[in-house]
Amino acid sequence: MNYLDTAVHAARQAGALIREKATSAKRVKTKSSAHDLVTEVDQASEEIIREIIWDHHPEHGILGEEGVQPGVEASKTALEEHRSKEYLWIVDPIDGTTNFVHGFPFFCVSIALAEREDVIVGVIYDPLRDELFTAEKGKGAYLNGEPIRVSGESHLEEALLASGIPADARGIRMRNVEGILHLAPRCRNVRTAGSAALHLASVAAGRLSGFWELELNAWDLAAGSLLVQEAGGRVTDTVGRPYDIGVRHILATNGRIHDDVLHGLKEAGVTGFEQS
Ligand code: IPD
Ligand code: CA
Ligand code: CA
Ligand code: CA
Repeated sequence: MNYLDTAVHAARQAGALIREKATSAKRVKTKSSAHDLVTEVDQASEEIIREIIWDHHPEHGILGEEGVQPGVEASKTALEEHRSKEYLWIVDPIDGTTNFVHGFPFFCVSIALAEREDVIVGVIYDPLRDELFTAEKGKGAYLNGEPIRVSGESHLEEALLASGIPADARGIRMRNVEGILHLAPRCRNVRTAGSAALHLASVAAGRLSGFWELELNAWDLAAGSLLVQEAGGRVTDTVGRPYDIGVRHILATNGRIHDDVLHGLKEAGVTGFEQS
């Protein structure tokens, strides 16, 4: 099986389970805080994906969210331990767990493959809409097999943006509230729908003009970042440095409004700190 086929197969198999369980009661546990949830479906989804990858590419490494200890420091350490692998699969078994728990229909599976830290495959699957977003480096981005492109807005005032609301009042994430309040009146509005990966897929498909958020992990971002780039967009950190798998503060746009959003984040005091 080629790498894209493996990723698609794994995303569809995991997605089928997530769809089946979407309306039933879940066993919800908390991880690092009362806002950090996990269900048995997150774990089962990751297990399905790991087994498919192991079956087809037993020599490859896997970094999956539910295989990592909760919390920021453990996430960073896990990435450092894995990132030098020749082939590394980066897996978010459900992105948007809080939405999944509440039945708010905005969650997905996100699977990427990095070759020596360079993301070469990205797949995001929205099981409720049966939308499969795929990208291979240098080969474009697709939604259910049809090519997709980023949107055409070139002025901030025409742009629909998305971001994330920090649920935890501690830490640098809180600065993002200033960014949202600053940018909302300067664009059409800012959406915060609770799945970084689906926000990125939406930028790739031209449904959003841009997305930024702070303190995300490699598994939230790897597949979606490739999708946006292959759909003709631009992906950097929130001070404008090019995306790599260690980036935690992300800005992904259609490219045309990128510098204006960077400028807005700077004006709001969101940027100007080192990557944590
Ligand atoms: C979360 C989602 C959410 C973002 C959180 C992430 P999870 O991922 O992407 O949109 O705001 O920071 O942790 O935990 O649902 O996989
Ligand atoms: Ca999580
Ligand atoms: Ca996630
Ligand atoms: Ca997750």
